[in-house]
Amino acid sequence: MNTLFLDALHCRNTRRPPVWLMRQAGRYLPEYRALRASHSLLELFHTPQLAAAVTRLPLDRLGVDAAILFSDILVIAEAFGGSLHFEDGCKPRVVLPPSPRLRSVRETLAYVFETIRLLKKTLTVPLIGFCGGPFTVARYAELPLEEITRASIEYLLLQIEAGVDAVQLFDTWAGELGAEAFAAYCSDHLSKILRALEPTHVPVVVFCKGASRFLGALGQLPLRAISFDAEQEMQQLRRLVPPSVAVQGNLDPSLLRQAPSHIQSEVLRLLESMQGERGFIVNLGHGVPPDVPVAHVKCFVDTVLASH
Ligand code: CP3
Repeated sequence: MNTLFLDALHCRNTRRPPVWLMRQAGRYLPEYRALRASHSLLELFHTPQLAAAVTRLPLDRLGVDAAILFSDILVIAEAFGGSLHFEDGCKPRVVLPPSPRLRSVRETLAYVFETIRLLKKTLTVPLIGFCGGPFTVARYAELPLEEITRASIEYLLLQIEAGVDAVQLFDTWAGELGAEAFAAYCSDHLSKILRALEPTHVPVVVFCKGASRFLGALGQLPLRAISFDAEQEMQQLRRLVPPSVAVQGNLDPSLLRQAPSHIQSEVLRLLESMQGERGFIVNLGHGVPPDVPVAHVKCFVDTVLASH
């Protein structure tokens, strides 16, 4: 098992920083587009063999140091009797029953746990499970934040039981908020989830857009790592985050549209600025854009892999 990612999460010394990418299994990959030509997105999410195969695509193609479960933060609506639909351009829409109530997460999302169990039989890198931050999920599904939080805790505990090695919380829409609103709408719920997971000792990464503006609140939470967008230089962020907390990120995804020589020099600049720092994981500030050449993504990852 390649443990670089878990070592970095625990701020242990590593010979090079680990690298993985948000949305590493996506439309920029020809193998993914080929699967999407014969299967809908929901079919891919709902069929454990297919979801596991998609999860593995970037491992074979790029050699990244971690796998992220292929699913979506919005499938949790199914635990409330809701259904998820993807319209043209993959825009998600959640349909909820008239009075949604939380049902058995173990049963309604059984296919997710089955996908995890399948993957764990063969993976040689850690598997990242995830869910959305309640505030972000509520932007798509009209459910009370407390109910989403309750469901998320149960959902993540079951992902852990099925075998995920780490968890990432995606609170993308937090970036729309100011520090006060973040404290009011996001951090209490994130905190409840983090506290409920603490006894499992599974490391948790929190991704918020605008995280660099919420360090006061994020610094109080029992998290293992913060995933940053590209708003500020990583080296500066490292100094603002407690040394026991790892940092992940944070190159601008649009970098992947530039020439490979430029991608390489920006990755090297990031690596040099973080040289000697423990607890650093290379990633983007947000997901891989769907329209970038695979060769550019490979150049990004290869530059990190070659850096020891
Ligand atoms: O990182 C990964 O590849 C793991 C799988 C994953 C997906 N969605 C698959 C997906 C993860 C971690 C997500 C998170 C997610 N989903 C977020 C939070 C992070 C973020 O990107 O902001 C949000 C807000 C959603 C809801 C959602 N799902 C949106 C807004 C969209 C459409 C826009 C888009 O990004 O494409 C989706 C569709 C979706 N979820 C796709 C994938 C691979 C795109 C469909 C495709 O590529 O065929």
